Amino acid sequence: MADAPPLITIEKASEFDGQVVRLRGWLHNLRRSGKIAFPMFRDGSGFMQGVVVKAAVGEELFDLCRHLTHESSLEVTGLLRKEERAPGGYEMEVQGLRVYQQVSADDPFPITPKEHGVDFLMDHRHLWLRSRRQHAILRIRHEVIRSIRDYFDDNGFTLVDTPILTPAACEGTTTLFEVPYFDYGSAYLAQSGQLYSEATAAALGKTYCFGPTFRAEKSKTRRHLTEFWMAEPEITYAGIDDVMDLAEDFLEYVVQRVIKNKAEELKTIERDTSKLESVKKPFPRISYDEAVERLRAKDIAFEWGGDFGGHDETVLSEDFDRPVIVHRFPMAIKAFYMQPDADRPELALGMDVLAPEGYGEIIGGGQRIHDYDLLVKKLEEHKLPREPFEWYLDLRKYGTVPHGGFGLGVERCVAWICGLEHVRETIAFPRMLYRMYP
Ligand code: 4AD
Ligand code: MG
Repeated sequence: MADAPPLITIEKASEFDGQVVRLRGWLHNLRRSGKIAFPMFRDGSGFMQGVVVKAAVGEELFDLCRHLTHESSLEVTGLLRKEERAPGGYEMEVQGLRVYQQVSADDPFPITPKEHGVDFLMDHRHLWLRSRRQHAILRIRHEVIRSIRDYFDDNGFTLVDTPILTPAACEGTTTLFEVPYFDYGSAYLAQSGQLYSEATAAALGKTYCFGPTFRAEKSKTRRHLTEFWMAEPEITYAGIDDVMDLAEDFLEYVVQRVIKNKAEELKTIERDTSKLESVKKPFPRISYDEAVERLRAKDIAFEWGGDFGGHDETVLSEDFDRPVIVHRFPMAIKAFYMQPDADRPELALGMDVLAPEGYGEIIGGGQRIHDYDLLVKKLEEHKLPREPFEWYLDLRKYGTVPHGGFGLGVERCVAWICGLEHVRETIAFPRMLYRMYP
């Protein structure tokens, strides 16, 4: 008996041009006429069109192919050949088919090529993920995450995971998720790993944490999730300029690598990549004061001292073809840990990176207070209890140095890179104010 043809994945098709191979996957779509059928297969790594010619395969196999239902699982054998017009550049002349499960025609796959409303799609998110577009987005997200890790790993940072169950707030007390915690009463889901990363950076010089973060956001916007992933580097012997340098170097790397390695996926989702190609250092840097002036020059009645809303951020980014960094915000709108500007103590040495094309803030960070007495004062001003922060104050007692870092929200970054309307499509199972299912 002849050996079975090699089992391959669609993304490796070019290595098997002109050979008979096997694929394991699912039926994505089917076009057919009397004598010929074009099943579209997917195997998780990609999509490939098959061609089934009745005269070549015989009545029985042709009938089996013709009646395949969407998302039926199968193993298919056939000859691979280059086909410029086919998605992915290859197609398969089908010679054999084994059906693992034929999806019942009475209970067909609920997501069809016709238009569905967003609520319907979100309710079927577990199945929607199989669509070409969602497949491409998740592959781009994966490349974003890989490039984030590679950037830090290759530049002397040590990954140190920070806890998710924490005794205190990092980013204000209004968005805390509270969970019962044994004798302590309550714990809070981490809003950020930053405070712990300050401790790990003092131990290891340059660290990053990368994990899920949680905010009980009551806002129903296209930029807010209640559970999102954040990559947070922290560096020692560093001021706000070092943090800005790091943010721009890092973001350029991530974006350029996604363009290079995920060209096919970006094409699938019809992203205009010329807009991403200009994401190169240096990024423009403007102070909060200048940002306010820019808004006023565009007839937006913005009061000095306020926080920028989504629309303000969009307007600010309109002037630039790459991300813009805004720095030195009023102390009053920033977190308790922000270092004040030595020249103007009413300003915090914080910085936000606003993405172009109206995507708003994707990075937030800055320089932290390193002076013990000042930090004690700020905790009091923010009415934060001292006890859960004793360890954090210790960092200012034993070898304190200027230090800082930032957090990049993965979902906002992916939404921007993919050019998506809403962050809900950037994560497999989004958690939002009105969504916990599936
Ligand atoms: O600006 P934020 O609140 O900064 C911090 O948490 C700092 N402790 C980070 C640090 O310095 N290590 O959040 C950082 C980023 C935002 O710029 C945004 O991209 C993302 O996290 N983010 C959210 N993404 C989705 N949904 C939400 N509700 C988000 N809140 C913040
Ligand atoms: Mg922020």
